[in-house]
Amino acid sequence: MLPCFLILISPLFCFSCLLMLPLGLLCPSLCVCMDYHTIDCRDQGLPSLPSSFPLDVRKLLAANNNIQTIPADLFLFYGDLLYLDLKNNSLTSIEEGTFSSSSRLLYLDLSYNNLTQLEAGVFKSAEKLVKLSLGNNNLSQVHDAAFENLNSLQVLELNDNNLQSLSVTALKELKSLRTIRLEGNPWICDCDFANLFFWIDENSNKLQKGVEEIQCILEDRKIFLHELSDISFRNCKYRMSITDFLIIIFSGVAVSIAAIFSSFFLATTVHCFQRCAPSKEEDEDDD
Ligand SMILES: *[C@@H]1O[C@H](CO)[C@@H](O)[C@H](O)[C@H]1NC(C)=O
Ligand SMILES: *[C@@H]1O[C@H](CO)[C@@H](O)[C@H](O)[C@H]1NC(C)=O
Ligand SMILES: *[C@@H]1O[C@H](CO)[C@@H](O)[C@H](O)[C@H]1NC(C)=O
Repeated sequence: MLPCFLILISPLFCFSCLLMLPLGLLCPSLCVCMDYHTIDCRDQGLPSLPSSFPLDVRKLLAANNNIQTIPADLFLFYGDLLYLDLKNNSLTSIEEGTFSSSSRLLYLDLSYNNLTQLEAGVFKSAEKLVKLSLGNNNLSQVHDAAFENLNSLQVLELNDNNLQSLSVTALKELKSLRTIRLEGNPWICDCDFANLFFWIDENSNKLQKGVEEIQCILEDRKIFLHELSDISFRNCKYRMSITDFLIIIFSGVAVSIAAIFSSFFLATTVHCFQRCAPSKEEDEDDD
């Protein structure tokens, strides 16, 4: 009776030893593996992310280190990651394709780093992302398509960067957006800013710190956004760029040429009908 029972139970026992072993073995030094899914490597002065983690890590906390890059294959190996906190590190750029397998990621904190630009589609595959923190970086360029595909994103933080302008096209991609932070940037109040101004005006309920906190620079003077109104940008609405101007001239010329050709064609047709078709009056006269 007893051996039989052991045979039944031993696979279970061995399975649980297998489960227990890797946690101890795979947990990177200087990190604490709270359970199979949560790894805490915060405040350790790490110069880079440790090279291996338990494979089914879901929550990776690595804030307050000196990490300079996100390994381009991080999400290839750790595709179950839901939560990645890299706040307060030394990231200066995000390599292309880094987030290409991050289809489960919900929360990404890259605030307090040294990022300077966001390229088109950089988070494209992180389509479940709900919160994206990019505050307190050195961002000066955000591509029109930087937030492409982020249909679930509810919170976007771009505060305290180096942004002088931002295309409204980038923000219009965000269909679920509820909260945004834009304060603490050196926005320039020129006609490029007009569209963002109107967007902010329409979406002021989404601004976490309110419109009151946003300032823009006009001739070396900082102005609070609530001091401005549509009237301040009135002259921008009618201002055309060189391309608009060229398109209008070109379409004008094209329309004129088309008009000349069509009237010529019409005249010829009418002329032909007059000459070829027997006229009604003549018919009546013949009768
Ligand atoms: C960033 O991390 C350092 C330690 O690496 C810490 O002294 C500092 O207070 C942290 N700053 C923020 C804003 O969290
Ligand atoms: C960002 O870069 C500046 C200068 O390039 C440097 O002084 C600063 O320490 C960097 N900040 C972080 C968080 O790495
Ligand atoms: C921000 O980036 C600019 C280049 O885009 C660089 O010259 C400047 O030193 C950076 N500032 C900080 C604080 O890192």
